[in-house]
This record gives sequence, C-alpha cells and structure tokens, in this order.
Amino acid sequence: MSRIAYVDGQFVPHRQAAVHVEDRGFQFGDSIYEVWSVRQGKLLDEDGHFSRLERSLAELQIENPRSRASYRLVIRDLLRRNRIRDGLIYLQVSRGVARRNHAFPHHPVPPTLVLTAKSVDVDKAEARAALGIAIITLKDIRWGRCDIKTVNLLPNVLAKQSAVEAGAGEAWLIDRDGNVTEGSSSNAWIVTANGVLVTRPADNSILCGITRMRVFQCAKSLGFLVEERAFSLEEAMLARESFITSASTFVTPVVKIDDQIIGDGAPGSMALALRSIYFKQN
Ligand code: PDD
Repeated sequence: MSRIAYVDGQFVPHRQAAVHVEDRGFQFGDSIYEVWSVRQGKLLDEDGHFSRLERSLAELQIENPRSRASYRLVIRDLLRRNRIRDGLIYLQVSRGVARRNHAFPHHPVPPTLVLTAKSVDVDKAEARAALGIAIITLKDIRWGRCDIKTVNLLPNVLAKQSAVEAGAGEAWLIDRDGNVTEGSSSNAWIVTANGVLVTRPADNSILCGITRMRVFQCAKSLGFLVEERAFSLEEAMLARESFITSASTFVTPVVKIDDQIIGDGAPGSMALALRSIYFKQN
C-alpha cells in the first residue's frame, strides 16, 4: 500500500508530495510543527497538541489555516487512507510561499499546510522502553525561544546525530549554568534519592512538552511528588532514576548518562509506572 500525504488541501501520494522552492519553511525555517502519537486509532493528548499548535502560530504571527474541527477531519482521513492503527501524525504550517526576503511577505500569502502519517512498530517501541536508553550530554547552543515548536531544528539534529554515533538514545542539552535544559526531541526528568520527580520549569529555554504536562497528572494519580526546578548534570548523575518524555517516546527510562550508570542500570520503577498509567489515562 502506498503512503498518502496531505499538502494544501489535497491528499497526494507521499512520493509526489512537495512544497514550493520559495516556501518560507524551506528557505528560512519560518514554520511550526506538531507531532501526535496514535495508539489503536486514537490520537493521544489530541487537544493539548492543538493548543500548542495555536500558540506557536500566534507567537510567530502566522495565520492558522484551519479550525480544530477541520484539522481533525483531515487527520482522521489521513489515518484511514494510510491504514494506521499505531503511528505518528506530523503537521507543519509555514508562513507560505513568497519571493525570498527575510521580512514577512509584504502582501499576505496563505500559509502552507502539510500533514504526513507513519506507522510505528509498537513491540519495538516497548522493547526499547523495557531496556531503557543511554544519554549523552552536549552544550545547548539553541536560540532563546525554544518554547515555540519551530522547524528550526539544526542544533537538535546535530545533537541527535551525536547521540546516534555514540550508541545513545538521546542527547541532553546543558545550559551555561551547568543545568539540563531538555533532550534534542524530548523533555528531561530525574527522580531524587527521596523519590521526588524533578523537571525543568517550562520557560523559554525548553519546549513545554504535552507529554510532560500529562505526566504531571499521571504522577498525581500515582501519589508521586513533582518539583519543577532546574537540575544540574551532577544531580542527574546521582539520580535514583531518570527518564525522558515526548509524544513519540511517551515515558522512556534512562539507564545511563554519559559514563554514569543511573540507579542500578535498569529502568526505574517510577518511570515504568508512569509509562503504564500514561496509556491508561490517555
Ligand atoms: N519532539 N522538547 C523538544 C525539543 C521536542 O522536540 C519535543 C517533542 C519535546 C516533547 O514534547 P511533546 O511531549 O509535546 O512531544 C520536548 C517531537 C516528538 C518531535 O520533534 O518529533
């Protein structure tokens, strides 16, 4: 079966799906995106991702091309056409196509809307989570508005590539004060010796993960305490447990940070409990 994408109002074969060479997303990264996980045909944290999509567009003064109801129809259709039960939906909105000039187009142009869908091998994802992942750490060289989900992902791409080359599952980015900001495509968490979950406050230095927000609720139902505060790499190295969160990895335990084994080197029980309740609450 051939994959189908959605570009500016049309369902098209994935192979032929394209945007213009002067699309501002392509030329300037003047574009935002969202990613939803799909499990058993259901979009996880559906509204949370829509809210962030609307916020990202508003922050960049890009017109929102669709209503939520219209996006929902397109997404449902895309899942059906691609026969996806478990997978990922990717949505991107750019400022549109205009003659190349850094400033916004003089005359308004319609935003470009692209959606793609892909299947995910759930067994493989579960096997990865059951083993836990290793983390490498790198300097955070990104810009000052990491709270906006833009496609300006070059530092993230380089960080993830370094992780892959090191045989790790994610790279954590370290700010000037020696604190962990987040992963290249996930939020970072640790569990202290007293069993308190710690994650960085959602300021401009990180993306406020929708999964992160959901994990606050999951933690509450499990009776786990959460502290939103900066934590240093040194503190992370001494953590009882650690994990990452994102729409594509849910809650995935971390078992090693650089050369330091975390806890006993196996996925922590609190991380696994959160992963399990995440699916039940969604
Ligand atoms: N990444 N931080 C960064 C830099 C991210 O790119 C992501 C998500 C997150 C977690 O956000 P959420 O829980 O809303 O997925 C945090 C997505 C999955 C991606 O780029 O594919």
